[in-house]
This record gives sequence, C-alpha cells and structure tokens, in this order.
Amino acid sequence: MTTQHVLVIGGGSGMGLALARLLLDRGDRVTIAGRSADRLARAAAVLGAPGLLRTRQLDITREEQVRDLADTGPLDHVVVTAADATGAYAPLGEFDLERARAVVDTKLLGPWLVAKHVRPNPGGSITFTSGVAAYRPGPGASVIASANGALESLARALALELAPVRVNVVSPGWVDTPVWDVLAGEAKHERLAAMAGRLPVGRVGRAEDVAGAFDAVLRNGFLTGEVIHVDGGHRLV
Ligand SMILES: NC(=O)c1ccc[n+]([C@@H]2O[C@H](COP(=O)([O-])OP(=O)(O)OC[C@H]3O[C@@H](n4cnc5c(N)ncnc54)[C@H](OP(=O)(O)O)[C@@H]3O)[C@@H](O)[C@H]2O)c1
Repeated sequence: MTTQHVLVIGGGSGMGLALARLLLDRGDRVTIAGRSADRLARAAAVLGAPGLLRTRQLDITREEQVRDLADTGPLDHVVVTAADATGAYAPLGEFDLERARAVVDTKLLGPWLVAKHVRPNPGGSITFTSGVAAYRPGPGASVIASANGALESLARALALELAPVRVNVVSPGWVDTPVWDVLAGEAKHERLAAMAGRLPVGRVGRAEDVAGAFDAVLRNGFLTGEVIHVDGGHRLV
C-alpha cells in the first residue's frame, strides 16, 4: 500500500491523536494541527516518528490561518476533530450568545473553511467529526446538537460540490478523551461509568475505536456524503 500524507486538525489529543498514531504506525506521513504549541509538542513527543510527523499551530476559526495550510504541501486526506467544548452545554435561558457562536465557529464554520481552502489530491478525502448529541441531545445541548446536525448536512453538500474528493463525517458517541477533563478527577470517572451503564456495549468508547472508523473512511474510495456512527449503540436506547 502506498503511504499517504494526512492532515489531522485536532490531532494534538483525543481521537485525532489516536488516529495520528494509527497512521504513523503504518508508515503514513501525518501533520497534526491545533491551537496550543505545548499540546502539539507533547503529542509529538508521545508519537515519536520524527521523519513522518509534522506539527502545525492553527486556529481553525481563523480564515487566514486555514488559507495558509496550502504550504503544508500535497495532502491525500484531511480529518477535522477540532472542537472546544468549554461552555458548549448550558440551559437555553443561560446560554451566552458569544459562547454559542464560538461553538458554531469551531464545529461548523471551521470545517467549512477547511473545505474552502484545503484541497486534497484526486482520490483523497475530507472527514469531519460530529457527535451523538445531534441524535440524542441531553439538556443544555441545543447549540452542540444543531452544530453537529448542520455539519452532517454540510458534508452531504460538499460531497457533491467537491467531487471527486470524498467528504464524510464520523459521529462518535461518549468517548473517554480529554474533552471530559472539564469534570475533575472522580467526577469524570463517575460520569463516564454512569454513561457506560446506559450503552448496549456496556462501556464508553476509546479514542482508538473512533480512530479506526476514520481510517476506514479514508481507505474506502466508494464512501462519500455519509455519516459513520461509532457510538456503542447509543442511538438505540
Ligand atoms: N469525546 C466525546 O465523548 C465526544 C462525543 C461526541 C463528539 N465528540 C467530538 O469529537 C471530536 C474530537 O474530540 P475529542 O474527544 O478527541 O476531544 P479533544 O481531545 O478535546 O480534542 C479536540 C482537539 O481540538 C483542538 N482544537 C480545539 N479548538 C480548536 C481550534 N479552534 N482550532 C484548531 N484546533 C482546535 C484541541 O487542541 P487545542 O486546544 O490545542 O487547539 C484538541 O486537541 C470533537 O469534534 C468533539 O466534539 C467527542
């Protein structure tokens, strides 16, 4: 199999980091991108593979920075896992408009900017990350649920507009990643254990579960305009 160059925006942690590890282990070239230089440096130290891995400081909500991605060189695939969940959940009456706009900026308009400015090689793909909140929104999830749903609609539109580049979405359920670190120590453990008990598979997801789904989407040249659910059966309960 020929090696490929994959840009993972959000690859400094969580699912994006797991995907970078999977791709590097196979010998692909990977660029991981995110806002924090420290986070990227820590990820690079964990991943090793200096000849294959590059890092790129980038805020996906800033158009000039996304436009400059052209200088990363030819890309086969782009995966966007970037999201800033800080303040993403709040009761409607207390939801701050600025915070709501920030969620939409990272989860919807950031991916839209990537599609606008980053063009993978022919035969390549762009894959976004939505989430089960689009289908099973909990209390306080009005903005993240609608951003996830809109992102899936965006992918269907782009699958036509950018064809033959393939555009897809992976929709994770509850997955144990740093995104839950907003819940300190024991609270995180208890919340994830309670979530696990509600799922048909009896556990929450691991970053590697979702990385495998991204990889399958990247490799399947007949898949476009599609949403792949990796949620432990969450939508069934
Ligand atoms: N974990 C779950 O249970 C779950 C469930 C459903 C959906 N999801 C979705 O899955 C995706 C991946 O999340 P994760 O769980 O892997 O969380 P994560 O570990 O927090 O990863 C998110 C990454 O996005 C980067 N990021 C945030 N804002 C950015 C911006 N403006 N520009 C560029 N990079 C940015 C962060 O790095 P910097 O802060 O350094 O920028 C971070 O490395 C997200 O879209 C999330 O909404 C997660």
